[in-house]
Amino acid sequence: MQQHFPDLPSQINPNAVKKHILPDGTEMPALGLGTYGSDHYSPETVANAVLEAVRLGYRHIDCAAVYANQNQIGMALQQAMKTGVAREQLFITSKLWNDQHAAENVIPACKKTLEELQLSYLDLFLIHWPFPNFHAPGVDVSSRDPHAQPYNHQSYMQTWHQMERLVEIGLVRNIGTSNMTIPKLKRVLEDAKIQPVCEQMELHPHFQQPELFQFVREHNMIAAGYCPIGSPNRPERDRTPQDTVDTSDPVITAIASRLKVHPAVVCILWAVQRGQVPIAFSVKPQQMLANLMAATGSFLTNEEMQAVAAIDKHNRLIKGHVFLWKENQTWEALWDVEGQITPP
Ligand SMILES: NC(=O)c1ccc[n+]([C@@H]2O[C@H](COP(=O)([O-])OP(=O)(O)OC[C@H]3O[C@@H](n4cnc5c(N)ncnc54)[C@H](OP(=O)(O)O)[C@@H]3O)[C@@H](O)[C@H]2O)c1
Repeated sequence: MQQHFPDLPSQINPNAVKKHILPDGTEMPALGLGTYGSDHYSPETVANAVLEAVRLGYRHIDCAAVYANQNQIGMALQQAMKTGVAREQLFITSKLWNDQHAAENVIPACKKTLEELQLSYLDLFLIHWPFPNFHAPGVDVSSRDPHAQPYNHQSYMQTWHQMERLVEIGLVRNIGTSNMTIPKLKRVLEDAKIQPVCEQMELHPHFQQPELFQFVREHNMIAAGYCPIGSPNRPERDRTPQDTVDTSDPVITAIASRLKVHPAVVCILWAVQRGQVPIAFSVKPQQMLANLMAATGSFLTNEEMQAVAAIDKHNRLIKGHVFLWKENQTWEALWDVEGQITPP
């Protein structure tokens, strides 16, 4: 299958990539490179992809402590900066892992991330999940943290206030959330001194989350979308027989044929044109280039945008089972599907 646009250049000028302006004036490129190697790609392979991505024109890299590859990515970023890309031209995100929510842990955890990434500040720091529930990497979905707890707003705000301190002491430029819901975000927005500028959430054609997407944008936050292609390489533990495949959807493949691109690229094109910031993973230069090209313009017609809007299958891929806090709960409890924060 064709992997690229017919006239794909060998590099893309970062200035040609669309940007979102954050409230502090920081420019956030409209596509980020994901760095979660899942069970397939080693830290070294992901770090090499980061170096290659910067060479190709990427300036936005999405990291996290739990991906266990920040040391290697730090070395890649150093190498990239030696080629003449200034720190200020890069937009680097990282995330606070669930086992570091305690107020006294937040600042040290961020400092450790900065040390690993060899940076003096982050452009964006997110609370990875709204639960302090920890699980060992790679565990089965039936695995539970025996100390797992439900969402506790007071505890979350204690963590959030330390995130605010990170902004105040200059280690972080912007702070945000991830894997939230409207009821939880409403409470955070009421009580935050420094507002979140971004919510990183699962977003792809078969999982469009229109209500949360609209809510986030109405509150001046960027909707960053993870698994924008439908995470075709996600680990077995994150698969269920009901899952659908975005890149096989006839609406997506028809647009791919018209534009002569891979269906994965159509997912990115739709995401960028909808106004979300896809965080797409790839370690393959031609894929990375095609995905970045997709962030340089509006390629879908209004009719195509409407057709993609109509294929939402409400198919959440990352269900989060391992964060459940009670026996016999289903994963929906994590996502406040009743319209209020799920009671303990
Ligand atoms: N906040 C959170 O809780 C959270 C959760 C999950 C993910 N994330 C972030 O989101 C990122 C992306 O999610 P993801 O990696 O699960 O899924 P994804 O970006 O939807 O899918 C990545 C896969 O799509 C394929 N692909 C990429 N570009 C392609 C192209 N142009 N043509 C054909 N195939 C292409 C690649 O497969 P091959 O490798 O087989 O080529 C790649 O491994 C992660 O890396 C991470 O940074 C955040």
